[in-house]
Amino acid sequence: MLRTLARQAARAGAQAARGFAAEAGPPPAAKKGGSALPLFIGLAGAGGGLYYAKENGYLDSLLGMPPNPSTGGKGEFKPDYDAVRKVVEELLESNEDYDDGSYGPVLVRLAWHTSGTYDKNTNTGGSNGATMRFLPESAWGANAGLGDARDLLEPVKQKFPWISYSDLWTLAGATAVEAMGGPHVPWRPGRSDYALDQFVANPDGRLPDGDKDAKHVRDIFYRMGFNDQEIVALSGAHTLGRCHADRSGFVGPWTNAPTTFSNLYFQELTENKWRKKKWNGPLQYEDKSGQLMMLNTDMALLWDKKFKPYVLQYAKDEEAFFKDFAAAFSKLMELGVPFPEGSVAATPAPQK
Ligand code: HEM
Repeated sequence: MLRTLARQAARAGAQAARGFAAEAGPPPAAKKGGSALPLFIGLAGAGGGLYYAKENGYLDSLLGMPPNPSTGGKGEFKPDYDAVRKVVEELLESNEDYDDGSYGPVLVRLAWHTSGTYDKNTNTGGSNGATMRFLPESAWGANAGLGDARDLLEPVKQKFPWISYSDLWTLAGATAVEAMGGPHVPWRPGRSDYALDQFVANPDGRLPDGDKDAKHVRDIFYRMGFNDQEIVALSGAHTLGRCHADRSGFVGPWTNAPTTFSNLYFQELTENKWRKKKWNGPLQYEDKSGQLMMLNTDMALLWDKKFKPYVLQYAKDEEAFFKDFAAAFSKLMELGVPFPEGSVAATPAPQK
């Protein structure tokens, strides 16, 4: 068993080394997290070290094996995902000067953008491999500002080195939704940081542009395998957070409660009056107060006759929105992830 693991480790190590060498330069998170690689390559050759690594779950993260034996077996390492959730929860409001006082929204966006590169036709992209650690994806315009989220999670990765970045980023998104008052989002481990996929860079343009129309929204989300109802449910995440001039060029929050997960986005969309913002910036909409905003893609949900019924439903029925959002967000974070056989059940809600 150990010899097989050593062989796998050596092979994955060589692949990883090629992947890193191919980069024009690692993003900040990759620099900080890069210390795992020498450790990894060293481990591949050293039997004693390998045993240590296996016992402590490092190997599982490196090889992308779910370190979650249900029995916890004698002497087996048992990863504690609830402990990771707790540390993420503690970080959410650790800096009152950040935006509206919570890192929750930007963590949700990180989980979405790391997953939203998926293409069902080629089965490429998705959260597996945490490819946003590397250029060019880390520098895509669409990912501007997500370095904050990756940097925030770096100490969590150091504290729990057995978890893969890809599991950590998605778990943090699921945790943030729930901690901000949203539904429990089913999540399971099993993403690898050394997936073969990551050595072929995802092409830019897989994430949506806010100034486009319903057709663009459908093109992007149908490519991932979502239907109209799921698209509207997922868009409800804009109840959180805000747009930043120095990131996307758009400005402002969608709701007056951007750190609480609710159906307020749909209520604002349907009940408020929206007009084009007159300014020297990209096309966006504002309400009378000039404080709240909508993107063209948000307005498109209201204008499109197939999207609109879901917008109206979610504006009236928060429970339905929570249920549908949890299912769609969970699906999003699992796109393209080769979960091992037998890993079917998402982890249950953490014990509080
Ligand atoms: C048509 C689809 C979408 C478009 C065009 C879009 C576009 C944008 C833009 C332009 C921003 C502002 C970024 C910034 O300036 O910091 C943003 C923020 C955000 N988006 Fe989306 N988005 C879409 C779908 C989604 C989905 C599916 C989710 C999650 C399920 C999501 C979650 C968020 C969150 C939480 C923020 C706030 C981030 C923060 O406050 O830092 N978005 N989105």
